[in-house]
Amino acid sequence: MRDFIARADKVMARVRELAAISEDGSCITRRFGTAAALEAGQKVMEWMLGAGLKVRVDNIGNIRGRWEAAGPGAKTLVIGSHVDTVVDAGQWDGPLGVLMGLDLLEELIAEGVELPFNIELIAFSDEEGVRFHTTYLGSKVVTGSFEPALLERRDGDGVSLSEVIKEMGGNIGRLSGDAIAAEEWLGYFEIHIEQGPVLYERDIPVAVVSAIAGQVRAEVVIEGVAGHAGTVPMDLRRDALAGAAEFILEVERVAGSKGLVATVGKLEVVNAASNVIPGKVICSVDVRSADGVVLSRGCEQLRLGVESIGWRRGLAVGWRVVQESSPVACDGGMGLLLGRCIAAAGYEVVELVSGAGHDAVPVSAVSPVCMLFVRCYKGISHNPQESVEKRDLVAAVEVADRFLHQLSEIWKYPR
Ligand code: GLV
Ligand code: MN
Ligand code: MN
Repeated sequence: MRDFIARADKVMARVRELAAISEDGSCITRRFGTAAALEAGQKVMEWMLGAGLKVRVDNIGNIRGRWEAAGPGAKTLVIGSHVDTVVDAGQWDGPLGVLMGLDLLEELIAEGVELPFNIELIAFSDEEGVRFHTTYLGSKVVTGSFEPALLERRDGDGVSLSEVIKEMGGNIGRLSGDAIAAEEWLGYFEIHIEQGPVLYERDIPVAVVSAIAGQVRAEVVIEGVAGHAGTVPMDLRRDALAGAAEFILEVERVAGSKGLVATVGKLEVVNAASNVIPGKVICSVDVRSADGVVLSRGCEQLRLGVESIGWRRGLAVGWRVVQESSPVACDGGMGLLLGRCIAAAGYEVVELVSGAGHDAVPVSAVSPVCMLFVRCYKGISHNPQESVEKRDLVAAVEVADRFLHQLSEIWKYPR
C-alpha cells in the first residue's frame, strides 16, 4: 500500500495509545522494568503478533519480532528503538522508531515482498537509563556487550538490576544467549525524532544522521560537614551544596566552549532539611561531544574543576565515571542510500550529527548503523511538549519505505 498518509495516521494513533500507558496518571513515565514499561511492551507484542511476526520477549525485556522471509544463512537487518521513557516524557522519543518499524514490516508482509534478508524489529526495554543511571541495557544485551557487573547496580529504592530482571520473568544466566552474533548482522536502522531544532527551523521533514556524539556520564560526590543552620558562622562552614552550586556553574562555563555540551541533571542533597547545613551532595554530570578528544578534555577539565572547588572550600570530592561511549560514525553506504531515498521523495537532503544517544551506539560495535531523523516541534524533547506534525510523518514513512525496498534490491545480488 503506497498510501503514506493512512500509514502515518496509523503510526500516530499507536504512538498515542502507547502514551496512555504510564507509571503516573498525570504524565508519561515508563522507566525500565516498571509495570507501565511491561504493559507498553505487551501492547507492542500484540501488534507484532497481529502483523504476523514471530515474537519473543528476551531476558532483559526487549520485545523482538522476527520476519524470516529469506533462506538459511541469510543476514538480519535489525530495525529498532526503545519504549522506556524519561520521567514526564513526550510521546515520540523511542516509540516512533518502533512503530514506524512495525508499519514497514506490516506493509512488506502485505505486499508479499521476498526479502533477501531477515528483519528483526526490536522494542528495546531500556535506552534512557533513568532507573539505573546507565543507558542501553536492552541494546547491550542484543549486541553482546552487557557487562555482568551492571546486575549489582541499584535503583533509587535500593532494588538491584538483577532483582528487576527476575521480577520481569528474565533469567540473568541467559542474557548472553540473547545476543545476535556479529556475523549475523546485516545492518541496523533506527528512525527517531531529531530532538533538536535544525529541521524545525529549516522546515525540512527528515535528515540522515551522519554521527552520534560520544557521551560520558559521571557521578560527582561532594562531602562537607553537616551542621546547625543557626549556629555555625558562615566563614566556618563546609557546605557541600554551596560547593555543588559552584560546580554547576563551572560545568556551564566549561561546556560553553565549542563542540561540548554538559549538564548536571540530578542533584541529591543527602538528609536535606531547611535547618541543616548540607553535608553531602551527589550530582549527575552528562558530558557530550561529537569529537572524542574534545569530550575527554572536557571531562578532565570538569574533574579538575570540582577538585579545585573542593580544595578551596575544604570539601572532599569524588568523580566516578558511570558510563562512557565514544562518538559513533553512521554507515556511509546506508547513509548514502537513505539520502537518495530522501531526494527521490522530493526533499532536500540534510545530514545531522545527533547529540542525543541512541541504541545505534552499542549496535555500532557489531553492525553498520543508519538513522533517519524526523522533524519535531521546535526541537523540544524529553518534555511533554514533544510533537511531530503529520506531514513530516508522511514524509518519513515514504522515505523509510523507499529505503527498505532499495536495500532489498541491493542485497538480492550475491556479494
Ligand atoms: C537519551 O535520550 C539520551 O541521549 O540521553
Ligand atoms: Mn530516544
Ligand atoms: Mn530520550
